[in-house]
Amino acid sequence: MSIVMNAKQQAARHAASLIKDGMIIGLGTGSTANYFIEALALRQQQGLDVSTVASSVVSTIKAAELGLKQVGFEYLSSIDVYVDGADEVSPELTLLKGRGSDLVREKLLARASDQFYVLVDKSKLVDRIGQNFPIPIEVMPFAWQIVLESIKKLGGEGQLRKTASGDGLAMTSHGSLVLDMIFDEAIDVRDLNNMLNAVPGVVEHGIFEQLATAIFIGNDHSELEQQWKETS
Ligand code: 5RP
Repeated sequence: MSIVMNAKQQAARHAASLIKDGMIIGLGTGSTANYFIEALALRQQQGLDVSTVASSVVSTIKAAELGLKQVGFEYLSSIDVYVDGADEVSPELTLLKGRGSDLVREKLLARASDQFYVLVDKSKLVDRIGQNFPIPIEVMPFAWQIVLESIKKLGGEGQLRKTASGDGLAMTSHGSLVLDMIFDEAIDVRDLNNMLNAVPGVVEHGIFEQLATAIFIGNDHSELEQQWKETS
């Protein structure tokens, strides 16, 4: 019997196949990360012994429902592998993340991991970061106007993110507000990353530079074919 998988599932299955006994695995957030959590739970049913740490409440709940062993974030200083999706991936393997509301934990896990596997379908591959989505910038709520002004001086334009219904402000699980900002495409993403890191009042932002180890790109049209790029 052949199992037909969509592109995200295919990438997730491939990442799960690389996980080994005894590892501590960071679980990302989003539809692709969910496929990975399911694939990892399946491997656990087949005898794999791992611990996990989740990047969000929704992933914590999903992992618990599927019986994955979980460790509290505060007990860890490093992990073996972090697996998550992304909104955009550039040719340099820089990522844009954060359409969800758990950017802080996601970046902490990405940075604390020995390997960071990113799972995408081809729609996520872009020529430059910011091509399809604004850059999400988490800000301390009381400082949002000062931060917005600082970011405008760096060439950004944008506003506070609203809730889906449009009648309130979106808040991250860390309790921050989010500025969705568009920058001139002439600004180099490495410079932008450094500039945003230096703005007081910015809690975190969605540019993940020099963090991904491997990108697994699922392919809808071919059942079990996987493609991936690895950093040197
Ligand atoms: C959440 C993220 C997600 O990984 C990103 O939005 C991709 O989501 P999906 O896997 O549902 O396409 O960064 O903050």
